[in-house]
Amino acid sequence: MALCLALLDTDSKKEYNKLGKEKKKQVQKKLYEALYSIIAYTDLEQHVEPNQAIGQVLAKAIKGHTISLTRKDRIRVGKLAESLRKVVTGAIQAESEAAQAGPQATSEASALSLYARLGGYAAIAKVTDTLRTKLFTDPQIGAYWKGQSNDSRQRGRELVIDFLCRILGGPDIYTGRDMKTAHEGLGISNDNWDAFMEHMQETLTELQVPSEVLEGILKVIASLKEQIVERQ
Ligand code: HEM
Repeated sequence: MALCLALLDTDSKKEYNKLGKEKKKQVQKKLYEALYSIIAYTDLEQHVEPNQAIGQVLAKAIKGHTISLTRKDRIRVGKLAESLRKVVTGAIQAESEAAQAGPQATSEASALSLYARLGGYAAIAKVTDTLRTKLFTDPQIGAYWKGQSNDSRQRGRELVIDFLCRILGGPDIYTGRDMKTAHEGLGISNDNWDAFMEHMQETLTELQVPSEVLEGILKVIASLKEQIVERQ
């Protein structure tokens, strides 16, 4: 736990200390997820000496001191630090609202995000990789991703992972375009959309995602349809 709290700045730590026991546990879980997502997308792990708390290393990295991060990583770590603060302030708000609204609201407020129930950043990366393999080889819609350089593919992968983290209630580290801008002019049809959703469903089923989490994820993605589909 101390490891995660090392990620917070002094003000956030003070706020954290005001939380109730249950809320503290939830915040810690969120912080762990955030921590592992930083490790997954930077090479920070390589900088950690044996027995050194990763949290300390990251806390310094966030301030931009000891570790030389690439500019891109620094932006992402900065955004993440911001979202960590929001985790704490959000928890305080939810707690006081729940206290006003009574016992049922308390259990609602404590429900874990789809991001957490799916298994965090690593699980989203796995979903993205499995899904993209299916999409790229699909006879109907594979052509949309033809002709991309390795670097564009890599960037596309990161953007999709980060976007899924955002919409499933995980750390908000997405730096890409909104869905309408990113897809406008591609001429994506209803049938294309159905093919995409089938691959998503198959991916989640193959990865043995529990059905209520699977349904929740499909619902969130379905809500983007209007922004992405342009023709019958
Ligand atoms: C039939 C469905 C879809 C097709 C054919 C499709 C195709 C594409 C293509 C070709 C690009 C690259 C655009 C460019 O760089 O010019 C793109 C970008 C992207 N797509 Fe999709 N997409 C589909 C659905 C979705 C859905 C449902 C999501 C979200 C869950 C999504 C998330 C993204 C993201 C995050 C980007 C990157 C945005 C950026 O570059 O800033 N796409 N998509």
